[in-house]
Amino acid sequence: MTSNNQPEVNIGLVGHVDHGKTTLVEALSGEWTDQHSEEMKRGISIRLGYADATFRQCPECDDQSAYTVEKECDEHGVETEHLRTVSFVDAPGHETLMATMLSGAAIMDGAVLVISATEDVPQAQTEEHLMALDIIGIENIVIAQNKIDLVDAERARENYEQIQEFVEGTVAEGAPIVPISAQAGANVDLLIETVEEHIPTPERDPDADPEMLVARSFDINRPGTTWESLLGGVLGGSLAQGRLEPGDEIELRPGREVEEGGQSEWEPVTATIRSLQAGGQSVEEATPGGLLGVGTGLDPSLTKGDGLAGQIAGPPGTLPPVHQQFTMDVQLLDRIVGDEADEVEPISTNEPLMLTVGTATTVGTVTSARDEEAEVALKRPVCAREGAKIAINRRVGTRWRLIGIGTLRE
Ligand code: GTP
Repeated sequence: MTSNNQPEVNIGLVGHVDHGKTTLVEALSGEWTDQHSEEMKRGISIRLGYADATFRQCPECDDQSAYTVEKECDEHGVETEHLRTVSFVDAPGHETLMATMLSGAAIMDGAVLVISATEDVPQAQTEEHLMALDIIGIENIVIAQNKIDLVDAERARENYEQIQEFVEGTVAEGAPIVPISAQAGANVDLLIETVEEHIPTPERDPDADPEMLVARSFDINRPGTTWESLLGGVLGGSLAQGRLEPGDEIELRPGREVEEGGQSEWEPVTATIRSLQAGGQSVEEATPGGLLGVGTGLDPSLTKGDGLAGQIAGPPGTLPPVHQQFTMDVQLLDRIVGDEADEVEPISTNEPLMLTVGTATTVGTVTSARDEEAEVALKRPVCAREGAKIAINRRVGTRWRLIGIGTLRE
């Protein structure tokens, strides 16, 4: 039996720093975050900035106020009905963390783009994050026009129009824009209703071989834990398909680097699942979608500090191939995002690129470049299928900047 509160969809919260993502997660997750067990808190939610929220509906309200995260309707005093539980992927707004945003985007089924009404549109990360959604192909987007309590009606309208203009021609064109105050909790009900309508849970095959995209990995032991009470390594991520149960054997690819006779190579790591956490509780079976914590029998030194982030986990022998180099079809952007003056120059041989493939971020050197394709040799290999989307970043000044999108060829 699947728990009622097991999250079934991942929704990215993206937008410029200080525009109110964290405040909005708090408004949406309500008391829910308190239910996380201590292990879950240390292991997944707090360290990732991730939170789950259960959307509910009052059976007696007949307007937007029916949508809530509260278990009881204030107006009617009746118990509200469970709609679905969602996991929020809270993308950090800091500009240097674009890579984190891109790898987070690999597990997003849709996104809420938070834009503050108090500033001109677009601010730098508003634009970069929207471009990342565009590139990764996240089409179900809801825009939250936040901090509406701080502006007058005229400014709110002006800002609303700026947002409409800004998203024209992007993946967010025509996306609903919901004016809210995350801090005052105003219009949050309408935002929930809009998310319910515009970010559906994708269809996933629960009977296929399980495939988990690992976004983070942890050592959750406190310093000084004795070996008898040492807990195994924890993986955080999302199941794209299939189910997992405690006791299942999984393989992680690319795995780990081993030295043999002066040569280094990568070999898959296998592990047994010891425990599963979803929706803030232990579950006996994890189903696709939503964020998941997987306790394993792995040596925690392997999972420590995101050591296994970017890998794929599933039954041994079923995972996509591992690539130490690959060829990709390349589509470059015309200009560097957030910097209208800078045209994107063609990719050249020997230049280093930072590539995000699924949840993996890796640096590669271009070994051959033509107009619309490039061959790269990677420092750390990636596990990916033919056709996988690759976000291509180039070093410009002191930063990695998004310059295009690639598609993995065999
Ligand atoms: P990062 O995580 O650093 O990217 O920022 P963030 O986007 O999560 O912003 P955060 O939620 O931390 O909000 C930034 C500031 O704006 C905080 O001081 C909030 O209290 C305030 N704030 C957020 N939403 C609202 C709102 O609707 N109205 C008002 N008045 N203040 C808000």
